[in-house]
Amino acid sequence: MDSFYGLAPRTSTRKQSAAGPHVTFPGDASESTASTKQQVLLSAHGVEKSYRKGKHVVPVLLGVDFEIAAGEFVSIVGQSGSGKSTLLHLLGTLDAPDQGEIHFEGRRIDNLPTSSRDLLRNQYFGMIFQFYHLLPELSALENVLIPSMIADGAFRYWRNRRQYRERAEHLLELVGLSHRLKHKPRELSGGEMQRAAIARALIAEPEVLLADEPTGNLDSKTGEEIMEILRTLNADQNLTIVMVTHDAAIASQADRIVRLAEGRVQAA
Ligand SMILES: Nc1ncnc2c1ncn2[C@@H]1O[C@H](COP(=O)(O)OP(=O)(O)O)[C@@H](O)[C@H]1O
Ligand SMILES: [Mg+2]
Repeated sequence: MDSFYGLAPRTSTRKQSAAGPHVTFPGDASESTASTKQQVLLSAHGVEKSYRKGKHVVPVLLGVDFEIAAGEFVSIVGQSGSGKSTLLHLLGTLDAPDQGEIHFEGRRIDNLPTSSRDLLRNQYFGMIFQFYHLLPELSALENVLIPSMIADGAFRYWRNRRQYRERAEHLLELVGLSHRLKHKPRELSGGEMQRAAIARALIAEPEVLLADEPTGNLDSKTGEEIMEILRTLNADQNLTIVMVTHDAAIASQADRIVRLAEGRVQAA
């Protein structure tokens, strides 16, 4: 079925229903089979990207080839300025490559129309960032609910609001934030804000979590707690994770490390 090309509601291996209260936390590893581990979920093929700065062109990615299998936890490492965030944004269709292609579930996604890319990000990709990107005026719970409101529109959201709320509360409990549902971001610590951002990223039961320096603004103990959550999501739910970090100790907790240097993936 042409789920994201045709903007139809998705029916995937991990996801049950957009509106459903389906929650499989924790310990449901039923989909974690050897065959799904082998399948390429997300890939970059000859990806090139430069930025224009006045008269200057700053080349960043010079031909990146990279594959991530379903169920894998991969970290992308490299020096500051090596293009890690750029690559993650391209994988997540937040930006488009100058050359090359990005594929998701075997289909090209870098050239989709904006509305299809928005849908793809809303339904298939969860994203978290170094500075959390929570909406400051909303509570932790409301921040987690926002993607569902966007996905459903006001009428359907209102009809399904109890199920969504239950699921959001369950996710906040999963990340250890059930005692902070009504708190606004400014009333939360960095680690708590990242927990809320993780719950928000999971509300649509994404196929892949893209994380840009998720521990970059946290002390090492709090960073470890966030890594523990990510490792558990990967191990228990077979959630595919692509995590950018410049921290070697954090990177080493993934299944595989991909190193970016001089615009390309370096041989392991
Ligand atoms: N929007 C932009 N405009 C111009 N230059 C940019 C832009 N975004 C990133 N860059 C430049 O591209 C290079 C790679 O940036 P980035 O992908 O953020 O690296 P990393 O995440 O590895 O630190 C850097 O030199 C940065 O200054
Ligand atoms: Mg970066």
